[in-house]
Amino acid sequence: MTHEFRGASLHDAVQQAVGRNAPIFEQKKLNNVTQKFDFAARARLGSALIVGEGDISFALALARLKGVTPSCLLATAYENEVDLGNTAYDNAAKLLKLGAQVKTGVDATCLSKPIGQRRFRTIIFQFPNVTSREALYGQNPNHVLVTRFLKSSRAHLKSGGLVVISTVDNPFCEGAFKMDDAAKKAGFEAPDIYTFNPKDYPAYSHQNTADEESAINEHTAFATIGFST
Ligand SMILES: C[S@@+](CC[C@H](N)C(=O)[O-])C[C@H]1O[C@@H](n2cnc3c(N)ncnc32)[C@H](O)[C@@H]1O
Repeated sequence: MTHEFRGASLHDAVQQAVGRNAPIFEQKKLNNVTQKFDFAARARLGSALIVGEGDISFALALARLKGVTPSCLLATAYENEVDLGNTAYDNAAKLLKLGAQVKTGVDATCLSKPIGQRRFRTIIFQFPNVTSREALYGQNPNHVLVTRFLKSSRAHLKSGGLVVISTVDNPFCEGAFKMDDAAKKAGFEAPDIYTFNPKDYPAYSHQNTADEESAINEHTAFATIGFST
């Protein structure tokens, strides 16, 4: 079930709820990739949808970047409102105060239901990850997640729009996500790859799936991948 916060504050929302041309991915060698993806520049172009937000800290960090208009941002979490952790609640409240929109219960693989026909310049999924490790149709479930997300995103991209995904950069993740295959299956061009440094986004704590721990400290290399049609 999807809830959209419409009140002036998160308290209102709770009351509402309870009252009722870079190298292609196959050739990726992070050591040779030096360009960072400029999230601020991208967000300054206009509307951005952020999905799978976990503790909603990346959207908050984005909203605070210089020149970004928070009201252009729609931050979403997969979890329903009642299942959000305290940090996610606090961050959602801060985002709402800045003028951004927040929506919970948004499945990134099925965006039309919660998002309707809205289209965005940029759709972002930071560190997608499913809890299950069981293969789906013989594929890694994270590859399936990303492929379905990309397919679902197509109907919500404006002309010239971009889907952006960041992941840990290591062979294990590369093998799990198979981003180039996912792009092909979903009808996107071969993706562009950039570096990602979480430290550039001070409010961002990169929440692990299913808990409130940060996974950033466990890894040293991260990549941002851009998909266009
Ligand atoms: C490793 S966490 C990253 C959270 C957040 N994006 C960040 O960078 O801190 C993976 C996130 O993917 C979300 N997720 C898993 N399946 C999803 C789906 N089908 N739609 C949207 N989000 C999903 C989980 O709820 C979780 O918050």
